[in-house]
Amino acid sequence: MPLKIAFGTDHSAAEIRNSVKFYLKNSGYQVEDFGFSGKESCDYPDYAKKVAEAVAGKKSDKGILICGTGIGMSIAANKINGIIAAVCWDESSAKLAAKHNCANVLCLGARTASADEICHRIKIFLETPFEIRHLKRIEKIKRLEQ
Ligand code: RB5
Repeated sequence: MPLKIAFGTDHSAAEIRNSVKFYLKNSGYQVEDFGFSGKESCDYPDYAKKVAEAVAGKKSDKGILICGTGIGMSIAANKINGIIAAVCWDESSAKLAAKHNCANVLCLGARTASADEICHRIKIFLETPFEIRHLKRIEKIKRLEQ
């Protein structure tokens, strides 16, 4: 079964969203696109909510969100119970978000990275397993949601 990826962007990602989606599908992932596919200004929390709810509700395995910086998307997605959303600005942060933080949503900045850099971070994030020795800390984060 291919991993299901919930995908969402705001207008900042208009130029790159199709190549990122193509990359994901070409890499064997099943992509559910929650928008936004237009160029006009939109509000990133609307798309963060859709992707975060798909992941928290286990309809998708992981989420990818792209806005201008990734910051707004991560702030919004982290409001949904069950979500650990991380903004990743390079290969190393993408790896550690998966390995140490058990992040289930990756947030990226279309205004701070090229499409190739974004696809590379996605690859690293999706291919890096969580290291179980960090579980105690993740459980402490989960308790903060209650
Ligand atoms: C939209 O202009 C911009 O604020 C948004 O894409 C994002 O960068 C917010 O964090």
